[in-house]
Amino acid sequence: MPDTAVASLNQLYTEKFPSSAKLFERGRKIFPNGVTHDGRYLTPFPIYIDRALGSKKYDRDGHEIIDYWMGHGSLLLGHSHPAVVEAVQRQAALATHPGACHEQEIDWAEWVQRLIRSAEKVRFVNSGTEATLMALRVSRIVSGKRKVLKFEGHFHGWHDLLIPAADPPYGTGEYGMPGITGNVLDDLVVVPPNALAAVERAIDEHDPACVILEATGGHWALVPMRGEFLRGLRELTARKGVILIFDEVITGFRVHPGGSQGHYEITPDLTTMAKILAGGLPGGALAGRADLMSALEFENRWGKKMKHPGTYNGNPLSAVAGVAALSEVAKGQLCQQANEMGLRLRTGLNELFARLDVNWIAFGEFSGVTIVPEYDGPRPTNDEFIPFGNSVAKLDRKIDTRLSHAFRCALLLNGVDFFGWRAMLSGVHSADDIDRTIDGMESVVHLLRQERLIP
Ligand SMILES: Cc1ncc(COP(=O)(O)O)c(C=O)c1O
Repeated sequence: MPDTAVASLNQLYTEKFPSSAKLFERGRKIFPNGVTHDGRYLTPFPIYIDRALGSKKYDRDGHEIIDYWMGHGSLLLGHSHPAVVEAVQRQAALATHPGACHEQEIDWAEWVQRLIRSAEKVRFVNSGTEATLMALRVSRIVSGKRKVLKFEGHFHGWHDLLIPAADPPYGTGEYGMPGITGNVLDDLVVVPPNALAAVERAIDEHDPACVILEATGGHWALVPMRGEFLRGLRELTARKGVILIFDEVITGFRVHPGGSQGHYEITPDLTTMAKILAGGLPGGALAGRADLMSALEFENRWGKKMKHPGTYNGNPLSAVAGVAALSEVAKGQLCQQANEMGLRLRTGLNELFARLDVNWIAFGEFSGVTIVPEYDGPRPTNDEFIPFGNSVAKLDRKIDTRLSHAFRCALLLNGVDFFGWRAMLSGVHSADDIDRTIDGMESVVHLLRQERLIP
């Protein structure tokens, strides 16, 4: 890839977003890499957002950008939904932290219970990372076992036991991560996704406390896991007496008001949630079987209590935002619109890529869209299509970083923000947003070709 091409793209980008360039000069002096989340890093610099509404966000220079990050997947209702804004403003004036029980936390948990079939009991935490951490600890207490089984490429937050094997390379047995010690890794069993026989062998060999998975597949379904496998896993874990944890931090309230478990009609033992759960504010939850969740009770049948403090657990601002969001989600139209617009975007992009004869395709399911660049297989003929025969090695491969940054910058130049090569839709993305996005993508392909960044 010629350096001059990236330089000329960067120049266009710097001319379009001068205020963001200036802010990044300040940010890079104080934050490692200039950012507060690895995923927000972008060269030559990220854009800085002043405000957002519905499916759009607006940068410091006033450009309107169609947003496909949607609060890292937490904004199914769109940015600044009036019901969420009103609820948070009212609650902020009443109490932001009473340091006490309050009705809003009960309302919030009752909505979770109404929507999520496995939620006999609920405990709030502050993030998805905390929810999966709690799920493992509860599983270990009640089972009296140590090990945890997870799948290659499945992301469950950044705590010690589950961040290993979240990224390639897989299959080496070496899942070390800087800063994580060997003792922790001894308790982790990693198996390839979608291979039930491998799960059964690993259960027989390692006798784990639990199996945890992203409930539609690793990395937000970059490597999909669909109903047949999920049903097989439910049957297998029940037969072997292993606790099954659906991590629904992304899928919860998104693929269906009842999450992946509602869509596929499968009841896991424990469920982790965050993101849409708290309407775009910080928040998370563990929910599940009452007997398992009793590990959090002072007196319980297990004879051991899981200690669970946490200053912001059940925070009332997150609670009222969550109630506002979940009561909208319950009506069903938001999930339906997000899923329909996801399909429209995948289909439109595939038509575009075929017409332009570029070696890219789009695939995905529900409200997620992934573009696969540098693709040499057959083009999708229907929306069930999964590239590379669902091979984790090929789907989860490393894409050239310079191409990835150039792609995002070119998209931003055309008024669209993707999460890398991926898009997460909301229930307020319209057909017009999708059509404008496809037009923008056409300009991106032309620009990258003109700069000789793609064939
Ligand atoms: C499936 C899944 N689990 C857990 C997490 C961690 O959630 P949080 O970022 O709230 O800690 C994420 C975050 O994207 C996720 O996608």
